[in-house]
Amino acid sequence: MIRRLVKYGDSALHRRAEDVEEITPDIRRLIDDMVETMYAAPGIGLAAPQVGVPLRIFVVDLSVGKQSDDLIVMVNPTFSDREGMQLQEEGCLSVPGFNATVARPARVITTGLSREGVEQTVEGNGLLARALQHEMDHLEGTLFVDRLRGVKRDMIVRRIQKLRRSGKW
Ligand code: NI
Repeated sequence: MIRRLVKYGDSALHRRAEDVEEITPDIRRLIDDMVETMYAAPGIGLAAPQVGVPLRIFVVDLSVGKQSDDLIVMVNPTFSDREGMQLQEEGCLSVPGFNATVARPARVITTGLSREGVEQTVEGNGLLARALQHEMDHLEGTLFVDRLRGVKRDMIVRRIQKLRRSGKW
């Protein structure tokens, strides 16, 4: 089932998500819905807070469903290593119509549980490293806009506020 995406300004996006205590059938259904919602958007990543669920789950698929082994499901993820630096344009399904250059580590190693509850470690470089960190940020209540500084951030926030006031957000 495709779930409704919440946008910048919704409280679910701006607070820390909770650990998943147990991978129940409901959790697996949520994960399947997140994957379906990500592919429909379409996007390369989606975190549970983006569908209004404050749990530490994200999904990433750089192929957007074209290659089945590209799908990464992470429950209760943590980073064990981050190194280097990359600067690339980034957007977010919760901040539609906006993007900005964000600095992030170039390589990450993340560990978490799979959909089946098996511990797994994923190493990401370049775009995959960026996607893993972007989604992990969502679990902390941080959006890419929050990582910007000064004029660029102010401009995006002001334009979103204007859209919200006119009911177009
Ligand atoms: Ni996002």
